[in-house]
Amino acid sequence: MAADHLFLRACRREPTPRVPIWMMRQAGRYMAEYQAVRKKVSFLELCGTPELACEVTLQPIDKFGFDAAILFSDILVVLPPMGLEVVFGDGGPDLPSPVRTAADARKLAVPDPITDLGFVMEAVRLIRRGLAGRVPLIGFAGAPFTLACYAVEGGGSKNYEHTKGLMFSDPASFHIILDKLARTVAAYLEAQVEAGAEAVQLFDSWAGILAPGDYREFALRYVRQVVDLLRGSRTWASGGGVPIIYFLNGCAPYLDDCARSGADVLGVDWRVDMGEVRRRLGDRMAVQGNLDPIALFAPEDRLRQRVAEVLGSAGSAPGHIFNLGHGILPPTDPARVKLVVDTVRELSSSPRDGA
Ligand code: CP3
Repeated sequence: MAADHLFLRACRREPTPRVPIWMMRQAGRYMAEYQAVRKKVSFLELCGTPELACEVTLQPIDKFGFDAAILFSDILVVLPPMGLEVVFGDGGPDLPSPVRTAADARKLAVPDPITDLGFVMEAVRLIRRGLAGRVPLIGFAGAPFTLACYAVEGGGSKNYEHTKGLMFSDPASFHIILDKLARTVAAYLEAQVEAGAEAVQLFDSWAGILAPGDYREFALRYVRQVVDLLRGSRTWASGGGVPIIYFLNGCAPYLDDCARSGADVLGVDWRVDMGEVRRRLGDRMAVQGNLDPIALFAPEDRLRQRVAEVLGSAGSAPGHIFNLGHGILPPTDPARVKLVVDTVRELSSSPRDGA
């Protein structure tokens, strides 16, 4: 039964015979198998075609034997049904008509995920069938602040000056945007769980750019809103709740705040020592992370050493899921990915104190 799988046990901070491993962006351009599918369709067509999304979700499971699959999609797919056009070019996502004014904020819709994002739920159902209980499936969405960054900025950015500009000059409108995103994301994740997702992850890739007070007001508050909506939902009330993972890129300054996010697992980037994260979170949350993705470009013995260091600093208490501190980069050698999987298996299955 998938419910007893290593990954789900670790999310619940139950003891496991070894540390489970999966990697953010494990399905993607570093894999020739992905490139072969991607040659035939655009990225958005790939996300929008359940059979293809299913195929590329399963590729890294078949090839590397990760302990969890993650739905192939993108955090930005919720934006078009909210009324925002998204284009993926070679330079990353582009939103030609970003949200910049109070009127824009008021116009944003809160879509019905079943009717507007049904292709995602269909992909979830196909993937569950394709996995046949081998490993659990993680669904995901962007966290409200990170989605707001793309919606207001109109794409990626270094400083997010439009986003912070709106946040400082018209916080009321910014709150309207965040509230609509939180309600959209909660309904979307609940629909993914109803379709078969066995855990859900919120990606907060950009909240690390905020001063601590702003982090609490504009990021954490809306992560909490999503988590509270999920925990109060019909799905959770009827016993169908699943672990909630919160990934915060640049989490170090806000660890105590994260412990109050309401999520079960904190996904951690590589700029902070895992041992410190464990001490600061105590038994409040499981942790996921946190190898620097660039360590996969290091010589093999260094890479093995870095993997050992992450395992060592995470310690042997239950509740550690091995992952990268952010997504796999496209030029990564798949053989190094395999080396990390094998090393985690080997090192974490030898007897560890208290495991
Ligand atoms: O394997 C998996 O992890 C599942 C698939 C997945 C993708 N995007 C596929 C993707 C997931 C979980 C995401 C999340 C996502 N998307 C985030 C949060 C995680 C993070 O990396 O911080 C963000 C910020 C996005 C937005 C996004 N999508 C950007 C900025 C880009 C362009 C930059 C880039 O890496 O190319 C994308 C495109 C994207 N999403 C690709 C993939 C495989 C590449 C598209 C292609 O094939 O051309």
